[in-house]
Amino acid sequence: MTLATGNALDAKDAVLRRQHSRESSARTYARTFPIVPVRAEGMTVEGADGRRYLDCLSGAGTLALGHNHPVVLEAIRRTLDSGAPLHMLDLATADKDEFTSALFESLPKGFADRARVHFCGPAGTDAVEAALKLMQTATGRRGLLAFTGAYHGMTAGALAVTGNVGVKEPLPSGGEVTRLPYPYDYRCPFGVGGERGAELSAAYVERLLDDPAGGVLPPAAMILEAVQGEGGVVPAPDAWMREMRRITAERGIPLVVDEVQTGAGRTGAMWAVEHSGILPDAMVLSKAIGGSLPLAVVVYREDYDGWQPGAHTGTFRGNTLAMAAGAATLRHIAAEGLAERAALVGARMTARLESLRAALPVIGDVRGRGLMLGVELVDPAAEPDTCGARPADPHLAARVRAACLSRGLIVELGGRHDAVLRLLPPLTITDEQAEAVLDRLADAIEEAATGTEIAGGRA
Ligand SMILES: Cc1ncc(COP(=O)(O)O)c(C=O)c1O
Repeated sequence: MTLATGNALDAKDAVLRRQHSRESSARTYARTFPIVPVRAEGMTVEGADGRRYLDCLSGAGTLALGHNHPVVLEAIRRTLDSGAPLHMLDLATADKDEFTSALFESLPKGFADRARVHFCGPAGTDAVEAALKLMQTATGRRGLLAFTGAYHGMTAGALAVTGNVGVKEPLPSGGEVTRLPYPYDYRCPFGVGGERGAELSAAYVERLLDDPAGGVLPPAAMILEAVQGEGGVVPAPDAWMREMRRITAERGIPLVVDEVQTGAGRTGAMWAVEHSGILPDAMVLSKAIGGSLPLAVVVYREDYDGWQPGAHTGTFRGNTLAMAAGAATLRHIAAEGLAERAALVGARMTARLESLRAALPVIGDVRGRGLMLGVELVDPAAEPDTCGARPADPHLAARVRAACLSRGLIVELGGRHDAVLRLLPPLTITDEQAEAVLDRLADAIEEAATGTEIAGGRA
């Protein structure tokens, strides 16, 4: 760790003070990570004060190849040097063509052959809006099926406040979201957990949709995540995913899978739907597909392509650099087998986290898929529920996050009550880095749980 000079520390503090006084109170990560990154490479971020951190947040799962990967930098430099236009709305460009080819080559077989892509505004939330509007237009229905614990973005109200009747008119009015129970082994909505909990979830969904007095009008779509990220790293069992596909297909309900966070190798497969083998009607993609630059698309079965020109438009849908960086990233993940590598390293990290759980009763649950891992922190002194789960301990989780930071490890929280430590390292993480992450995490949890500093901490 580089020793910080007094000047560097002063400069860092001045930047943080200005941020504090100028930026909105809705700023998030900046509150818990008071660092001013100046350089980053791979998994390492260096702050203005010279301190170095292992980054297990990776831009909320965006940096599949870590920071400033040579393949990404090369693609960006090549594009800059080529003189290609950097912004071209949704016009055809060679970079867009190359990105679309790389994307379609990566998609599950049987989906790509009959898929269309729509380039959206450059955030996952806009691609979610696009997917829902697409299905509302195609079905002439308005209502949506969504799950407990789901996170799909922040712009749900954008269309409601838009004045242009032309873009709203094709959408049927009214409608609502029907909330369904997502299988969550540790905190099962049915209080039973395990396979049985997932079976009950599927039975509930099917029976509710078929109940003439169930209160649910035929919906425009069901939207779900194969692993809920912000919801606390909750993976859905493959059999449950297949049930959702069967139930929606049998009832003519389009199934939209939100792969904004799970996509591009993160869960140990290129796309998380590949674990269950289902073919959705639409997939929402963002984060890693732009190779660390903003990019978002919805890909869908061509039968649903009933949109009028301009039905989902936006200025920033032609980000040339993001397309170049994204194409290079998708191809690199495939060529280097990084999804398989994520599965392998993720399994090893899970095994070590499991042994940590056996030793530290504050760890209630360890779960995840590939390199999307969650550690749920609980109050070990409290009574367990019928599934054996104890109450979440958000205060402890916040202390662990701070203890991680002081050991040079960036880890964010999520899930119910913000009590789940979420590990989203880049797919390029080395074995040594994985060990270092777990060493620092173990020390941080022990210190935060017992209130004692770990002598000779491994940071
Ligand atoms: C599954 C999922 N969908 C959608 C979004 C929204 O993406 P964005 O923050 O780019 O709008 C996120 C963001 O974390 C996400 O995890």
